[in-house]
Amino acid sequence: MKKKVLVTGANKGIGFGIVEFLGKAGWEVLLGARDAQRAQKAMNTLCEQGIRVIDWIRIDLNDLKGLEESVRKLKEEHPDVNLLVNNAGIPGNMAVPSYETEIKDLRETIEVNYIGTFYLTKLMIPLLAQNKGRIVNITVPHEISPYWHPMAYVASKAAQNTMTSIMAFEFEKNNVPIEIFDIHPGPTTTDLNGNMTLPGFHTPDVVGEKVAEIIEDGKSHQGEFIELYPIVEE
Ligand SMILES: NC(=O)c1ccc[n+]([C@@H]2O[C@H](COP(=O)([O-])OP(=O)(O)OC[C@H]3O[C@@H](n4cnc5c(N)ncnc54)[C@H](OP(=O)(O)O)[C@@H]3O)[C@@H](O)[C@H]2O)c1
Repeated sequence: MKKKVLVTGANKGIGFGIVEFLGKAGWEVLLGARDAQRAQKAMNTLCEQGIRVIDWIRIDLNDLKGLEESVRKLKEEHPDVNLLVNNAGIPGNMAVPSYETEIKDLRETIEVNYIGTFYLTKLMIPLLAQNKGRIVNITVPHEISPYWHPMAYVASKAAQNTMTSIMAFEFEKNNVPIEIFDIHPGPTTTDLNGNMTLPGFHTPDVVGEKVAEIIEDGKSHQGEFIELYPIVEE
């Protein structure tokens, strides 16, 4: 079976790690990014490692019209894509308690992590159904952790997790040949958290390899929430 994947937010961090290891596992990779220079830099680094990225695609989750145009082009140029990894995301302001969250911050975080991700997924569904494909969402648990609970971010991811559960149920119920599931990578040292390196944190490489292993394990994960590493006390 041909394996062709679009990974969003793939120019750095966890997305880059996922692309690296899916590439090593024989996937043809389309790198989703919102900036040409950052995309090219990532593609060059991957090329130096012998990983072939076939193209980059502009995916800006804040630009819904732009997503329509990108998916239209993707359908023309890469009609055999059979995996979407919804990885792109933003943290929102993690430094404020819930009751001081600014509406602007809440809105921005939900717009990118939920609405943009939902709309890209919706646009990709006809193509993925045609190719009996899969959707993997990179997310966090929505239960409250006593150690870590930034409201705008967790709320946006809770909505994303609900999208996964309901889509999984309805794909089964309506015989839509797509599998969708969540992966929580656990605390990972990236720009999203100011490159924190506390105990319990892992690198994007470690996480990328594990995500690729799950994608390659040949099992059905419909509707699952797979936790690679839990959130632990700092
Ligand atoms: N790091 C962790 O501890 C952790 C834990 C659990 C889950 N996650 C999830 O893992 C995913 C990746 O995060 P990361 O830690 O790798 O963060 P990161 O290093 O900051 O990377 C985020 C990626 O998302 C892209 N992005 C940001 N805003 C976007 C938008 N509006 N449209 C499209 N792409 C956008 C960024 O592109 P630019 O370079 O253009 O900004 C970048 O490629 C996120 O969904 C995050 O919630 C992270």
